[in-house]
Amino acid sequence: MIRPVPWVAPALFLLCLAPAVELAHGLYTNALGPNPLETLTRDTGKWTLRFLLLTLTISPLIRLFQWQFLLRYRRLLGLIAFQYGTIHLTTYLWFDQFFDWAEIWLDILERPFITAGMSAFVMLVPLALTSSRWAQRVMGQAWKRLHRLIYVSAFAGLLHYFWLTRADFLEPAIYAILFALLMLARIRRTTTVSAGES
Ligand code: HEM
Repeated sequence: MIRPVPWVAPALFLLCLAPAVELAHGLYTNALGPNPLETLTRDTGKWTLRFLLLTLTISPLIRLFQWQFLLRYRRLLGLIAFQYGTIHLTTYLWFDQFFDWAEIWLDILERPFITAGMSAFVMLVPLALTSSRWAQRVMGQAWKRLHRLIYVSAFAGLLHYFWLTRADFLEPAIYAILFALLMLARIRRTTTVSAGES
């Protein structure tokens, strides 16, 4: 059995923050290209999706290799996804809409890719709020059911990405395939478990 190493969690945390630090540094040194705010929005969007997919990878890895120690990093990865999502949303509210709430509301209602993105983010909020071990213990089975929202959120995030892409669908397609594989691993497990139970 692999034992957890104490410094791995802080090291992983710092590694996950590296893209944010690089973006902040790029913004400060004017190195984000001709449209830095657009780069900021786009990059933080991609990092949100990447961390959501990474979070979803943990359970299949645990099942496949019995790496129980990975469980302690799942929460960290999920919270990092939420952190990038919050920065991503903030760049939109601030630099795209200048906090014009009436415009933002219209945008959510009228542009399907914004509706999908907003739905994906809103679903992450209860997950972040109930991510503590205490909440998990108190909520029991309800916690498991609630945290299945991460699948819907990742799906809505992908939809959001496909909707806003005009050309070159390669990158969203790669994320979609990864997501489909992760879902397949889950469905296979559910059917194997139910077949074993019957
Ligand atoms: C879980 C939540 C979300 C995920 C996973 C996500 C993901 C993404 C991705 C992958 C991109 C495209 C990056 C690229 O083209 O290179 C993107 C762009 C964008 N997202 Fe999100 N997003 C989320 C939530 C939101 C929310 C809540 C809003 C605003 C209400 C939003 C507004 C935008 C905008 C304005 C763009 C740039 C569109 C453009 O440049 O044409 N996103 N997002």
